[in-house]
Amino acid sequence: MTDHVHRNRAAWDKWATEYAGAGERNWAAPEPSWGIWDIAETSAGLLPADLDGLDCIELGCGTGYVSAWLARRGARPVGLDNSSAQLATARQLQDRFGLRFPLLHADAEQAPFADASFDLAISEYGASIWCDPYAWIPEAARLLRPGGQLIFLVNSVLLMLAAPDDDDQPATEKLLRPYFGMHKFDWGDGSIEFHLGHGDMIRLLRSCGLQVEDLLELRPEPDATTRYPFVTLEWSRQWPCEEVWRVRKS
Ligand SMILES: C[S@@+](CC[C@H](N)C(=O)[O-])C[C@H]1O[C@@H](n2cnc3c(N)ncnc32)[C@H](O)[C@@H]1O
Repeated sequence: MTDHVHRNRAAWDKWATEYAGAGERNWAAPEPSWGIWDIAETSAGLLPADLDGLDCIELGCGTGYVSAWLARRGARPVGLDNSSAQLATARQLQDRFGLRFPLLHADAEQAPFADASFDLAISEYGASIWCDPYAWIPEAARLLRPGGQLIFLVNSVLLMLAAPDDDDQPATEKLLRPYFGMHKFDWGDGSIEFHLGHGDMIRLLRSCGLQVEDLLELRPEPDATTRYPFVTLEWSRQWPCEEVWRVRKS
């Protein structure tokens, strides 16, 4: 296990209890909604229109609510996560909501599945920010069948440049760090995140045989709320604080 995978496992095992409540609310939600502003799937349009019968893997599934939404739409999801504590919550929520799918304790940078096992790989703030993109994106591409889709939600590049080192403080209107070379982020809380600039991301995706179909820049509704302190609604209404890559294996 690489150092950042080890550190992120310890961090998420510690934080898991704080995420159980949100996990339960999302499991209970009748329709998917995304990111820190709970943007409805009907306006965000992340998911393929037809999920029926698709083999899906959620990379960094946490409490498993995205996989639950996929299962309710007819897909066959597998949830993979690096934290046994997060998966324990996911198992409790499976019992509570009477919906079961496989949950696997593993590292998304080395997923224990054969090549071309899935039609859809998805990650909402999972592997998409906690794994090294130069490791998890080639791995996701390997797992996909030809024509399969990878969809992942991350903090926007702009937000990563405007976020103060103290993540209890909201993003500023100034660029606080260089764009060139952005990759590994250590916020000093024990965990490690990864964020790439757009050119680097496009080149990486293409080198893995993944064609970019869309980059959705999410904008919250004027009355949206969030429990996260690192960005305000005023900021997020002016600039995208979250982005979703929709790419397809050729
Ligand atoms: C914010 S949660 C994402 C789940 C959910 N969508 C959410 O927003 O709560 C981040 C998850 O990524 C997982 N994660 C971090 N590093 C990982 C890795 N190397 N492989 C798989 N999962 C990982 C963490 O354990 C954690 O459960």
